[in-house]
Amino acid sequence: MITLHEKAYAKLNLTLDVLGKRADGFHDLKSVMQTVSLHDPVELDLGTGEPWKMICDREDIPCDARNLAWKAAAAFFAYVDRDPGGITIRIQKNIPSGAGMGGGSADAAAVLRMLNRHYGNSLTPEELAALGGTIGSDVPFCVLGGTVMCEGRGEIMRRVPEMPKCIILGCKPEFSVSTPVLFRKIDSVDICHHPDNDGMEKALASGDLNMVAERICNVFDPVVSADHPEISHIKTVCNACGALASQMTGSGSVVFAIMPDMESAEKAMAQLKETYSRVFLAEPV
Ligand code: C5P
Repeated sequence: MITLHEKAYAKLNLTLDVLGKRADGFHDLKSVMQTVSLHDPVELDLGTGEPWKMICDREDIPCDARNLAWKAAAAFFAYVDRDPGGITIRIQKNIPSGAGMGGGSADAAAVLRMLNRHYGNSLTPEELAALGGTIGSDVPFCVLGGTVMCEGRGEIMRRVPEMPKCIILGCKPEFSVSTPVLFRKIDSVDICHHPDNDGMEKALASGDLNMVAERICNVFDPVVSADHPEISHIKTVCNACGALASQMTGSGSVVFAIMPDMESAEKAMAQLKETYSRVFLAEPV
């Protein structure tokens, strides 16, 4: 038996635009996605000689074929036409779920990356990302990582200049958002404010964190904020502590803020912890 290790990094959407509904029921998006340091350590035992098993430290996470990490392993072995002789997947869940941080997709991508590495990189990065796309819309980005302009369902990817170093505060309200329900909802609202993706790309190229912060924008933010005042509350706390920007990520419900220094980040964190149990600091990776 051999054990593989990989870190599954969370993502944030610096921008997120919904361009329209497609014939296949999905939506065309345009989003600058960013990997951040918050991660789930993922371990994989290969050749256990036992039925497939998954162990996770959180009870609300399904530990069977419904889990994206399990699906990723199954998809990989089907693709390369191999039998690993039994596997056990162990995940320590640090990334909140129902959060818009791509937690399940990150775990799936980590499984794909480590299996491909173990089997001599038999799939090209493009093939691995495409295989990820069969598991979930965010998996191709999570396979690639970094700072990426994502289009289509998320599978059309182009690297853009990396995000300047900064301190990111994240806070998860108690509620979670159903991604399919939110996509259905956005079909019936007029999107008043679209992100400036070209402007974001130029801001990233300039390396100026203030310019990047000014262009952070997610079309789902006002839709979720309308039903959940916690989103505005978290932003108000962060902004009062000097945040350069604060915004919901993906389909929510995590709100992230770009903080100017550690002192203000810790001040905002202490205030948010009085109300919310899941508050964390991270940085772009
Ligand atoms: O691909 P994934 O399983 O993450 O998508 C979850 C749901 O979100 C889809 O079933 C669909 O309702 C919605 N979705 C969408 N357009 C996308 C991504 C997701 O409509 N580009």
